[in-house]
Amino acid sequence: MNILVTGGAGYIGSHTCLELLESGYGVVVIDNLCNSNPKSLERVEALTGKKITFYEGDVRDEALLQRIFAENQIGCCIHFAGLKAVGESVAQPWRYYDNNLNSTLVLTKVMQQVGMKNLIFSSSATVYSADNEMPLSETAKTGNCTNPYGWTKYMTEQILSGMCTAEKDWSVCLLRYFNPIGAHKSGLIGEDPRGIPNNLMPYITQVAIGRREQLSVYGNDYDTPDGTGVRDYIHVVDLAKGHVAAVKYTTQHTGCEVFNLGTGVGYSVLDMVNTFQEINNVAVPYQIVDRRPGDIATCYANPAKSAALLGWKTQETLADMCRDAWNWQSKNPHGYSEDSQS
Ligand code: NAD
Ligand code: UFG
Repeated sequence: MNILVTGGAGYIGSHTCLELLESGYGVVVIDNLCNSNPKSLERVEALTGKKITFYEGDVRDEALLQRIFAENQIGCCIHFAGLKAVGESVAQPWRYYDNNLNSTLVLTKVMQQVGMKNLIFSSSATVYSADNEMPLSETAKTGNCTNPYGWTKYMTEQILSGMCTAEKDWSVCLLRYFNPIGAHKSGLIGEDPRGIPNNLMPYITQVAIGRREQLSVYGNDYDTPDGTGVRDYIHVVDLAKGHVAAVKYTTQHTGCEVFNLGTGVGYSVLDMVNTFQEINNVAVPYQIVDRRPGDIATCYANPAKSAALLGWKTQETLADMCRDAWNWQSKNPHGYSEDSQS
């Protein structure tokens, strides 16, 4: 079966393309490369010895999507394409709503036209309200998002679940990711953020390699064991495998189902820094600074539903995540780019 992967050249998409190919699926990618480099796909091809059919273009381009469905027999679509920087979404709300909502609307319109209605969507733990108890089950309260990025995920979930209510032949999995980090064991594909990283792990690896002077730890006065923020970090390869499990589920069921993809365990910022330093024998200088606006103290998943229905569980440890993130960064000090100006 061929899987259409939107945003397949990106961080999670490229790892998922690799796992799909290794599980015997054919892979067709559409990506406009607004936040990625086509080298990721070349490296996936080199690692697997298999070809990816790649279309450079925008998911909001209806004619291009029609052509892709006409030229390829697609059995399921995984929709990663989207903009994901929280701070940028506050500064550029229209761009985020346009890109993230219209890409889904155009994609599902064309899927409707061709009668292929199996869809997996990249949602986020950000859709959960801040006032829930931990761990977060899929039934926890959603909404009250604090930024336009979060609202695009929340609204897309509403759109897709409404479509499944109206038309019983749709099959949609909404996958709520917790905090993906790490890289493929080969060190050939990994996370390559543009500019200054917003997220913790790419910041740590860039400090370790000497591209940034020190890490700012955003607050040590939270109500957590060491006062720093606690998150559910998940190895990107485990996350990618969760998508392969979701493809099987989506193609065998109908309706809309929500799944958490997380480990169920929370680690603090200082746990991350200490594990990274110990496992890789490299220094990560840091200073404690004020809390970052919008952050919450603690966020981790209850992954029981994914285990029960998808038959999927994470396998990689925090040490694996730290080792693999560093392996990627040290083999690719400037990511996919050979340019050292970043
Ligand atoms: P990424 O930026 O590396 O990948 C997204 C890809 O989509 C990029 O290759 C980009 O070029 C492409 N893209 C964006 N808009 C497009 C459009 N209109 N048409 C075609 N291509 C387009 O991000 P990622 O970390 O791999 O995230 C993938 C998805 O998972 C996103 O939807 C993101 O919001 C979601 N997600 C990510 C995280 C995380 O922490 N990385 C957490 C929760 C959810
Ligand atoms: N942190 C620092 N210093 C940094 C970066 C982060 O101390 O330079 C801390 C944060 O305060 C937080 C933790 O590290 O306590 C994790 O922060 P990230 O920015 O890596 O991740 P978030 O949990 O804030 O958010 C991420 C994505 C969101 C997504 C969410 C849940 O950025 O888009 O995970 O999936 F919604």
